Amino acid sequence: MAKIAPSILSADFVNLERDIHNIEENGGDWVHVDVMDGTFVPNITIGLPVLRDIRRVTKLPLDVHLMIDRPIRYVGRFVKAGADWLTVHLEADTPENIMACLEMIRAMGCKAGLSLKPGTPVEMALPYLTKCDLILVMTVEPGFGGQSFMTDMLEKTRRLRAALDEVNPECLIEVDGGIDTVTQILCKQNGVDVMVTGSAYFKAPDRAAFVKTIQE
Ligand code: DX5
Ligand code: ZN
Repeated sequence: MAKIAPSILSADFVNLERDIHNIEENGGDWVHVDVMDGTFVPNITIGLPVLRDIRRVTKLPLDVHLMIDRPIRYVGRFVKAGADWLTVHLEADTPENIMACLEMIRAMGCKAGLSLKPGTPVEMALPYLTKCDLILVMTVEPGFGGQSFMTDMLEKTRRLRAALDEVNPECLIEVDGGIDTVTQILCKQNGVDVMVTGSAYFKAPDRAAFVKTIQE
């Protein structure tokens, strides 16, 4: 049993409300919102005003993935704009500021997430494990949808699950990038709780069936 968080990066932005309601109708668990600043990653997507408007049209939990430099500057505003889960990248700020981000997110009543790029080892995450409600393991280089799943990230999810079981068993592990009906099986076998999926969800001929496949 896993949760699915369709990523609106692959939605039709002109019809965003329609596509978000479609996620609800198809039984999706969360809506994944990718925020990119053109500096931390080589792409620019959406930000605070769009998140605020999404908040008005859905009750589904909003899973906001900040791919921005020095997120400490913005976490408060993203929580206020409607994030239920707010994830920052470990590589995007100083260790002190990452700790402060996670604490601030939780203090504001939001769930705190920490994301690791493919090149970032599990050891780097260990000091933060008790401060997180979710660890997001990137299974592609962040920045773009439609890339191929990196199989070697499965060792990372497996090791993280073991480390979390020691100190924070409630913490969820999420994967993002290249998740489809085949790779989701490998993820489930390696301790993953939440699957983000952009292109595979939006291209699925039967999205409700796709959602069920991930959830079963
Ligand atoms: C990429 C984003 C992902 C993206 C995944 O940096 O974080 O959320 O939407 O897209 P797919 O599922 O197409 O790999
Ligand atoms: Zn994402």
